[in-house]
Amino acid sequence: MNQTTDTLVPTSSAPDAEGGPRRYFVTSFGCQMNVYDGERMGEMLAAQGMEQADAREDADLVILNTCHIREKAVARVYSDIGRLRREDGSKPMIAVAGCVAQAEGEEIARRAPSVDIVVGPQAYHRLPQLIEQARLNPSGSRTAAIDTDMPAATKFGALPARARQPRPSAFLTVQEGCDKFCTYCVVPYTRGAEISRPFTDLVEEAKALVDGGVREITLLGQNVNAWMGDDDKGRSRGLEGLIATLADIAGLERIRYTTSHPNDMTDALIAAHAEIPQLMPYLHLPVQSGSDRILKAMNRSHDAASYLAVIDKVRAAKPDIALSGDFIVGFPGESEADFQATLDIVRAANYAQAYSFKYSPRPGTPAADMEDQISPEIMDERLQRLQELLGAQQHAFNAATVGKRTRVLLERQGRKPGQLIGKSPWLQSVHVIDPAAKLGDLIDVEIMSAGPNSLEGAALALVTA
Ligand code: 5AD
Ligand code: SF4
Repeated sequence: MNQTTDTLVPTSSAPDAEGGPRRYFVTSFGCQMNVYDGERMGEMLAAQGMEQADAREDADLVILNTCHIREKAVARVYSDIGRLRREDGSKPMIAVAGCVAQAEGEEIARRAPSVDIVVGPQAYHRLPQLIEQARLNPSGSRTAAIDTDMPAATKFGALPARARQPRPSAFLTVQEGCDKFCTYCVVPYTRGAEISRPFTDLVEEAKALVDGGVREITLLGQNVNAWMGDDDKGRSRGLEGLIATLADIAGLERIRYTTSHPNDMTDALIAAHAEIPQLMPYLHLPVQSGSDRILKAMNRSHDAASYLAVIDKVRAAKPDIALSGDFIVGFPGESEADFQATLDIVRAANYAQAYSFKYSPRPGTPAADMEDQISPEIMDERLQRLQELLGAQQHAFNAATVGKRTRVLLERQGRKPGQLIGKSPWLQSVHVIDPAAKLGDLIDVEIMSAGPNSLEGAALALVTA
């Protein structure tokens, strides 16, 4: 991929004396892990002396941190790349990062010659070198600097320490990759094999985040509850052990984790929900379908009954837990009866909140070659029925909190004057107007009203500033 041509691709803008970009802007698509990766890329570039631009238009390096999970997400990347060209024909240096970079590699540079850098999710610690390589590429060249190596976890050791955070709630990737190979999913191919980051590195990163003003940490992993590691005394620990240690960090008020697999929901982790007050009462536990036949074809390695048994145990330990999930409608071969089984499991589990998607065939995954792909019309209609049911459950969950006193971590400014938006323990958005409060405060509120997506609260008392 090092051929140079004299085609008319405008060169990247080269604003500083040496010609390297000065201001970066990162746009992350897809999952929370991409948000985490995007933040770490930004922190690394800032550590190199670059500045974060306020808007994409002001940046001379734009990083599109992409998602490959569904076809729509991929299409957005290419339309975004097209929109980066300025009216005068110039363009910023463009880096495509994330899972599309991993899955499509050189193909991106072929399809979109204005792309200067292609960097996979396990290689972004080498962005500075790739920027330098791209900068040295001849003016008007079609050459892109590409790195889609997948060495397990070396990137974390090569990244700078965490910077002061702009928000009170932060993500922390503890586990990455997936060995489960659900037949619809690209993650094992784009994020690679399952790895757990070392215990001591995570405790150190969490402490740095808290020192930098963070009060809530969400532990991330594609199979976060499969995290394993040896603690500082050499004892083997599961995720609950890591959570218990993080809970001892003074100033860390709240801990969450996502996304979990039903088969890795151990009794010890379930017990942690009853025992560790900082662990919030919220569990994202995707089931994908309620039909055992479809779950088998998806290679989920659990059935509807075993999923519901896990939920029962979790609710026995933590009766008020808010349950969340992911669903796919229209997996190849899904009959109306299979879909009814999905509606049944939703009724049985009762979700506080959930995500639902139409099946999207992903190149290279086994399900993409399965017979009996479902028509878009049937998928649309099933998705609508499922979302109606999930929406009603979510609204009912929210309505049940009206009149209750609850604790809110204030995370961002609202649109109305004086309005602040925070999260309840159950991850609901709560709007409050409290002139005495500021972002990062933990306050007690009374819930006055509930909508489908948010709650209105009246401030009662400041808990900790
Ligand atoms: N089509 C539709 N949805 C998918 N997901 C993963 N792969 C696909 C696909 N090919 C959904 C699953 C998963 C969530 C992150 O995205 O529900 O839990
Ligand atoms: Fe998208 Fe999955 Fe990659 Fe996250 S891990 S960016 S959801 S494909």
